[in-house]
Amino acid sequence: MSNSPQCAYIGLGSMGKSMAGHIAKKLESLNYPSLLAYNRTRERAQVLKETHPVEVAESLKQVAESADIIFSCLLNDAAVVETVNSLKPYLKPGAILVESSTISPALAQSLAAELKQKDVSYIACPVVGPPVQAASGSLTVLLAGPAEARQQVLPLLDQVIGKKVINLGQDVGESLRLKLCANFFVTSVVEVVAEGMTLGEAAGVGQEKVKELLDSLFPNTLFGIYAGRMLNNTYRNEIAFPISGAQKDVGHITKMAKENGVSLPVTEIFLENAKKVQEKQGNIDLSGIVGNLRVKAGLGFDLENKKAKLV
Ligand SMILES: NC(=O)c1ccc[n+]([C@@H]2O[C@H](COP(=O)([O-])OP(=O)(O)OC[C@H]3O[C@@H](n4cnc5c(N)ncnc54)[C@H](OP(=O)(O)O)[C@@H]3O)[C@@H](O)[C@H]2O)c1
Repeated sequence: MSNSPQCAYIGLGSMGKSMAGHIAKKLESLNYPSLLAYNRTRERAQVLKETHPVEVAESLKQVAESADIIFSCLLNDAAVVETVNSLKPYLKPGAILVESSTISPALAQSLAAELKQKDVSYIACPVVGPPVQAASGSLTVLLAGPAEARQQVLPLLDQVIGKKVINLGQDVGESLRLKLCANFFVTSVVEVVAEGMTLGEAAGVGQEKVKELLDSLFPNTLFGIYAGRMLNNTYRNEIAFPISGAQKDVGHITKMAKENGVSLPVTEIFLENAKKVQEKQGNIDLSGIVGNLRVKAGLGFDLENKKAKLV
């Protein structure tokens, strides 16, 4: 690989557009060739080009034929399989694929083995943190794969897309398994906050006071972030983590738990709530599961923010 590799980014959704933007600026600062940006819906790459130093790639074939390091962040297992299959015939020997989607650990392992046959290194690089943290370059990056390739890509990730990199060694399944543990915590916190907010409201304390308490007990954490979304009923208009995404991740989490003989009762309850809310409200933000609990407690799905009303 040359000393100034050609890099590409595939998948410019809520997460990918920000990560690609940070990497593009880093490449510019290193005087490397401009990032090649590709998205299935081409307009998204054009939009990124308006604000960042990127070149728009017209096809996955072009990406594979040109790039030494390819980053990607795609919706789910199917999107990753489809994309890798399109890239595969054209990938350069010695290339590195740095994959950030939340996919099953088994898929990551099988793609790594498949690409190794073509002398392509697969790095699993799932990220922890919402789109707002992707935008501020403060994600937690979970890195696994061949050591030499990890070393090559680290300067394009550490303090670029993330403030913290956790190295997990050679087995790409490891970083996906840790990512699923992370999303176990996120979905469980959402369930607990939704229950606590509903309890406070139904018992007459009021959800504003519950949020104030959470901010003091667990400052600057997911507790306060999700309590804020529930308090202000932002789940329909600001979809940071759609219910469908959480359901996809919970599918992987429950499979991993089953394979390892672990029972996850909070996850089961969360999933039930998520399913009911999606049926009635569509694919809103995860924080919307509070509505189901509110209704069960005899309250309205959306509650008025009394504090805001008083101000
Ligand atoms: N959102 C979060 O809070 C968060 C946090 C950490 C990790 N993640 C993970 O990061 C990944 C991306 O999440 P996101 O929130 O950025 O999702 P998103 O906004 O829905 O973006 C999905 C991206 O995947 C592309 N895509 C979907 N299906 C495809 C297919 N069949 N072939 C090719 N491209 C396809 C989309 O292209 P189009 O523009 O053409 O639709 C888009 O670029 C997911 O695996 C998610 O679990 C998300």
